[in-house]
Amino acid sequence: MPASTPAADCFLAACRGLPHDRTPVWFMRQAGRSLPEYRAIRGTGSILDAIADPELATEITLQPIRRYGTDAAILYSDIVVPVHAIGFGVDVRPGVGPVVDQPFERAADLDRLRPLDPEADTPYVLETVRSLAAELPVPLIGFAGAPFTVASYLIEGAPSRTYARTKALMLGDPDLWFALLDRLADLAITSLRSQVDAGARALQVFDSWAGALAPPDYERYVLPASRRVFAEVADLDVPRIHFGVGTGEILPLMAAAGADVVGVDWRVPLDEARRRLGPDAVLQGNLDPAACLAPVEAVEAAVADVLRRNGGHPGHVFNLGHGVLPETDPGILGHVADLVHAHRSGD
Ligand code: CP3
Repeated sequence: MPASTPAADCFLAACRGLPHDRTPVWFMRQAGRSLPEYRAIRGTGSILDAIADPELATEITLQPIRRYGTDAAILYSDIVVPVHAIGFGVDVRPGVGPVVDQPFERAADLDRLRPLDPEADTPYVLETVRSLAAELPVPLIGFAGAPFTVASYLIEGAPSRTYARTKALMLGDPDLWFALLDRLADLAITSLRSQVDAGARALQVFDSWAGALAPPDYERYVLPASRRVFAEVADLDVPRIHFGVGTGEILPLMAAAGADVVGVDWRVPLDEARRRLGPDAVLQGNLDPAACLAPVEAVEAAVADVLRRNGGHPGHVFNLGHGVLPETDPGILGHVADLVHAHRSGD
């Protein structure tokens, strides 16, 4: 039995800003190395091999639902799966992240980014989504990487702290930049639509590293492609979440991309986020993942602070401000889920 029982509909209601019984909670990277049951079945190969095994990917997606009773599941996959599947030449190195043999440099590299055919290129993703849709007691969140964040991996060739090559291409060759983002937006749209067709009931677009950009650069070079991603999945009628890290300065611009829910990292308290986005903004977040490594009393105080700053607003999906750190004690995350579930609006 999970520590708390998941409720079928509070997550979807909160994403719409509608009244519901209790605050929904899930954790980015809830499936992953913090769970002993994950480490036990994950194996040692590339995560891309684990993702390509629907039985394994289904089980890994279910693990945190069983353990924590979270109100939504996130598909076990990765933002580089579509570019990997069309043969761009990307792998995910354990402890490092996505690496690319031949980084994106010039116009000829656009030919390495053909359109995605989900049934032919990523049948395993669709199979995993279908089996999860049949088994899960809670909604499944499908996802894709936003054009900027995926572009940063393709251009840098490895995780970067400065995004120097990415910004140099963006500022130095805008035509090529926009052509690249256009292809990556198409990949995201096709992938997201196929996940919803297969049974995903919400979508999250990860622009994890967009916070590296100054607002005018985000607005000019990134927002149009991200806005198109959200517009071209709007007809699917599932909630769309837009998330990035270090995005305090660009939060209003990210909201302008048109998602239903804006993800907020731990740097911007939820009350301040609503001052920036308006009182009706639907927010996801934003407990500092590192706070989960503190003594339990400090974790409890941090959870209470997030809930207090939300102020009983129905448009709140409790989450961490970024992914679960691998060294996190799963018992603490279970306690966090219980605290959120025990909370009543207005408390
Ligand atoms: O619960 C979940 O969120 C699981 C599904 C998921 C994974 N990656 C599995 C994964 C999701 C939603 C992602 C998205 C993803 N991948 C993002 C956006 C989210 C974020 O954290 O900002 C990004 C930037 C990536 C790229 C990536 N993949 C990184 C930076 C890493 C970490 C490298 C490492 O080993 O520390 C990965 C690998 C990865 N993807 C792991 C998991 C569970 C961990 C390593 C593994 O088990 O092999």
